[in-house]
Amino acid sequence: MDNRIQIDIVTGLPDLLGGFIEESIVGIARKKGIVELTVHNLRDFGVGKHRQIDDYPYGGGSGMVLMAEPIFRCLESIGVKPNTEGTDREEVIFLTPDGQRFDQKTANALTMKHRLVLIAGHYKGIDQRVRDYFVTKEISIGDYVLSGGELAAAVVVDAVCRLMPGVLGDSMSALSDSFQDDTLDAPAYTRPASFREMDVPEVLLSGDHRRIHDWRESMRMDKTRERRPDLLDL
Ligand code: ADE
Repeated sequence: MDNRIQIDIVTGLPDLLGGFIEESIVGIARKKGIVELTVHNLRDFGVGKHRQIDDYPYGGGSGMVLMAEPIFRCLESIGVKPNTEGTDREEVIFLTPDGQRFDQKTANALTMKHRLVLIAGHYKGIDQRVRDYFVTKEISIGDYVLSGGELAAAVVVDAVCRLMPGVLGDSMSALSDSFQDDTLDAPAYTRPASFREMDVPEVLLSGDHRRIHDWRESMRMDKTRERRPDLLDL
């Protein structure tokens, strides 16, 4: 299995993503050669002397709309095909509050792709023709409106990268995450065993792997039942 993925992020605000890319799990995945990530500055494809990337909406209304031309030119320069000609190994994702809600299942599915192209909209949105022509999937990270898609793109990239085989040191660690099997994760503790008179549950110090496993399972179920019963009624 090829465990590498190419990720392109298209944005008018590339500096927003700098620290995230360098410092996060994504940075580790890049250094290991598992993720090849490039941020494309829409300004480089802007129109006219001022390299314009947005304009007023037809029909009036507040806010600015990202223009079709800079995005078309940017996507074409990196070989992105129209959605009618795409393959199932590539996904062109537009981050938008009216997209499909992002979850762990979608993150898992995206790890199977060879290439993800994420378009971060800004201002009031992007020209609909970009969505019609290129986009294969529209993703929302939750029912709230961010001022741009960059943070949403970072969320998706982080969730996908940490699932790529070889990225996390402990290969079991992603498998036991909250949501990975539709339950929430058990509480975690580290040293010291007693801190300000608060003690780590005795079972975790017992060295008895069977008991530890059973305790974690029961904590996962209790927590899920209490906080997210919706995850259990499938
Ligand atoms: N852009 C603005 N708000 C967003 C959201 N909730 N999810 C994804 N992209 C967005």
